[in-house]
Amino acid sequence: MPGVVKLFGEHAVVYGRPAIAAAIDRGTWATCTASDRLTVEVSGHSARLVYNAEGGSVEARGAEGFLSYVSTALRLARDTWGPLRAAIRLEGDFPPGAGVATSAGAVVAVLATYAACRGARLDRGELARLAHMVELEVQGAASPMDTWVATHGGVVKLRASPFSAEPIETSVDAYVVVLFPRRGTTGQIVADVKRLVGSRRSASAVLDAIGAVVEEAEACLRAGDAECVGQLMYINNWLLGALGVVDAEAVSLIERARPYIYGGKISGAGRGGAVLLLPRDFNTVKVLVGHMPHYVVKVDRGGVRVI
Ligand code: PMV
Repeated sequence: MPGVVKLFGEHAVVYGRPAIAAAIDRGTWATCTASDRLTVEVSGHSARLVYNAEGGSVEARGAEGFLSYVSTALRLARDTWGPLRAAIRLEGDFPPGAGVATSAGAVVAVLATYAACRGARLDRGELARLAHMVELEVQGAASPMDTWVATHGGVVKLRASPFSAEPIETSVDAYVVVLFPRRGTTGQIVADVKRLVGSRRSASAVLDAIGAVVEEAEACLRAGDAECVGQLMYINNWLLGALGVVDAEAVSLIERARPYIYGGKISGAGRGGAVLLLPRDFNTVKVLVGHMPHYVVKVDRGGVRVI
C-alpha cells in the first residue's frame, strides 16, 4: 500500500476545490496468516498495536491513534466479506500519524488484506469507497484523497464532491519528505480551518486561490516543468500559511533549502507533520536534512497490490 503525499490543494479539497496527490514508493506492508482468531498487529518505529477483534482486547504502545481506524475497518470488512479468522500484520515505513497518509494506508491495508484472505476479488473502487467510509467515521471529516490515491496509485487530480479523479502523467516524480513532530491530529487541524473559513470571508478567497494554484500546477506537471511546479509549491505553502497550518520550522527548512530545491511546501494537514521538497540537487538536500527523519520518495504507479 503506497503512502500518499499531497502535492497541491490540501485543506481546500475539503471545501470542494480540486487537489493533486501522489502515491509514493514507501508505505505500508501487510501479511495475513491462518489463526484461530482475528487479530491485527501494527508495528514499526517503536510503535505497536495488537488488536484482538473477538475479545476486543488491545495492547498498544505509541500507535493508539490507529485503534479506531483498525477496529472500524474490521467491522466494515466483516459486513462486506463475511467473518474471518486470521492474523493480519501491518508494517509501515513511516511513523504513525506522520501526515503521509499513514492512517489511510493502514485502513486500505487492513481492508485489502482481509478481502484477499477471504479469497474475495480485489476491486479497487470498492476498496477506496470502504476506506473513505472508515476515515469519515473515525475523523468526522475527510476527503477521499488519501484513500483513493493509496488504492489506485499514480499522481491524481481529485475533487471530493461531486467526486472525480483524473490521473496525471508527469516526469516530475521524485521528492524528499521531511517529518516533524505533529501538533494535533488531522481532525483537529481540519476543524480549526473550518472555524476560520466559517468566520472570515477572506479565508474562502484563500481557498479559491489554492484552487487556482492546483489548476495551474496540473499543466506544469503534465509538461514536466519542475521549475513551475516548484514555484507553485511555494505559493501553495504561503496560502496554507494564511490558513494557519504552516509552522515556523517548516518555513525555516524551506528557506534554508531554497538554493537547492525547485520548491517546497507542507504536505497534509500541517502543524508539523510532513514537508515536501522538490530537489534540484538531491545530494545537497539530503545533507541539509540529514539530522531529521527524511525519505527520498518516487511516485508509485501501481497502487494497492496483493502478492
Ligand atoms: O495530514 P494528512 O495526511 O492526514 O492529510 C490531511 C489532508 C486534508 O486535506 C487537510 C484533509 C483531507 O481529508 O483531505
